[in-house]
Amino acid sequence: MSKKRVLSGVQPTGNLHLGNYLGAIRNWVEAQKEYDNYFCVVDLHAITVPHDPKKLAADTYTIAALYLACGIDLEYSTIFVQSHIPAHSELTWLLNCITPLNWLERMIQFKEKAVKQGENVSVGLLDYPVLMAADILLYDADLVPVGEDQKQHIELTRDIVIRVNDRFGKKKKPILKHPDPLIRKDGARVMSLTDGTKKMSKSDPSEMSRIELLDPPDAIARKIKRCKTDPHKGLEFDNPERPECHNLLGLYMLLSGKTKEAVAAECQDMGWGNFKPLLTEAAIAALKPIQEKYDEIMSDRDYLETILREGREKAELSANEVLARVKSALGYSTPL
Ligand code: AMP
Ligand code: TRP
Repeated sequence: MSKKRVLSGVQPTGNLHLGNYLGAIRNWVEAQKEYDNYFCVVDLHAITVPHDPKKLAADTYTIAALYLACGIDLEYSTIFVQSHIPAHSELTWLLNCITPLNWLERMIQFKEKAVKQGENVSVGLLDYPVLMAADILLYDADLVPVGEDQKQHIELTRDIVIRVNDRFGKKKKPILKHPDPLIRKDGARVMSLTDGTKKMSKSDPSEMSRIELLDPPDAIARKIKRCKTDPHKGLEFDNPERPECHNLLGLYMLLSGKTKEAVAAECQDMGWGNFKPLLTEAAIAALKPIQEKYDEIMSDRDYLETILREGREKAELSANEVLARVKSALGYSTPL
């Protein structure tokens, strides 16, 4: 039996943080042998909010290098850059004309980001989920491993599939494949270090709110030292009145590789003064091999470029085939 197809991506906006790693990339790495994987750097998504042209290409390479540094293995996975494959933009246009506007206006992430942008909301920000649907559908993906915040976008993708297949497909021969989200409970929602009720996010103005994968040990130590805690002694999971406590224990559990039970027992009588150094040590130790591998990859630009070129060549085969399928179903003539 052939392996199921996986597709996922991260935007090249700023560096990756622990939320991206624990919510998404770590899961890609752990499950990659079971699947046929495509991981893209979604640089077209990165310009849906104002961006810096001087940084876009460099950030794109950084994310691709971090995929490799986190353990994406080219034996099982293909890494590529979204904008290198024109089919992503083209399928987005076709899907745009089939997707009702009010489906997009309902998207939680759009509403949240639109508030932050004020007057400056682009059509692209509204259209973001359709581009994401195109990313997924071009690879006939079965599974999309993401953090919890992306679930609604995958549901939208499924609605688009139903609409396209109903309107343009034949009963026995659907045009597009239904994807399912793959969301692991642990790490699906890593919270901010400065507010345990808010998601850790690249767009939070305070760097103190997140630990980035490339943070040096002293920055990690400083951020954990100053992170928000509470006045109670004895640390515990799952107390809704102690969101910071739950989040920090969860981070410790994931970064140290210990079980929830082990962490709960280890920390039940601890105060913050004893716990913070433990968490700091676990974070530094977990990120060290990633950072070393990252430096190695970044010192050989040719190697990275070759990987992305080969990734594009392979990914394009699937993308162009699906695009042709959709165009033909929509009634387009083939160019002579
Ligand atoms: P983004 O930073 O929006 O490009 O997100 C890339 C991936 O990281 C997506 O799969 C997100 O669901 C995941 N992600 C982002 N922030 C978090 C977070 N705080 N906790 C868990 N997963 C996250
Ligand atoms: N929207 C996703 C995020 O911000 C990134 C993304 C774009 C994505 N295209 C995708 C994730 C396709 C999974 C599959 O996290």
